[in-house]
Amino acid sequence: MRRKEFIKTCGLACLGATSIGVFLHSCVSTKNISANIEGDELVIPKSDFTKKDGFYNYIVINNSKLQFPIALFRFSSEEYNALYLKCTHQGNELNAFGDKLVCSAHGSEFDNKGNVTNGPATDALRSFPVRITKDNLHISLKSA
Ligand code: FES
Repeated sequence: MRRKEFIKTCGLACLGATSIGVFLHSCVSTKNISANIEGDELVIPKSDFTKKDGFYNYIVINNSKLQFPIALFRFSSEEYNALYLKCTHQGNELNAFGDKLVCSAHGSEFDNKGNVTNGPATDALRSFPVRITKDNLHISLKSA
């Protein structure tokens, strides 16, 4: 292969790889919200899960009183799971990608139930009870 053809081929390959990455990232975009704390609970309107074509699988919740965000996963209208986004290995903040929570420090991964799927972390993530009312979701922070 001549030099010019090689450069052209590599350029197209890089462009394709970049496009695929952007496309995949847009498919799993994360919704971040800021929620109020009332008493010992974070309160999130159920409507925050609603989107044009259905529901978000999860949202990431921030509050200035929390050291780390909380990911709230929706499995059904009656089943939610709230996970503290602090890696159980050495305490780095986790990032949510689809149904996976990933630590950029050393590569640990967790599923949407908080279980370790890839080390070096060995302990599951901290989770919080979720109480469901007519319009809201209440995440209990009592043990936080
Ligand atoms: S701090 Fe998360 S893998 Fe080490």
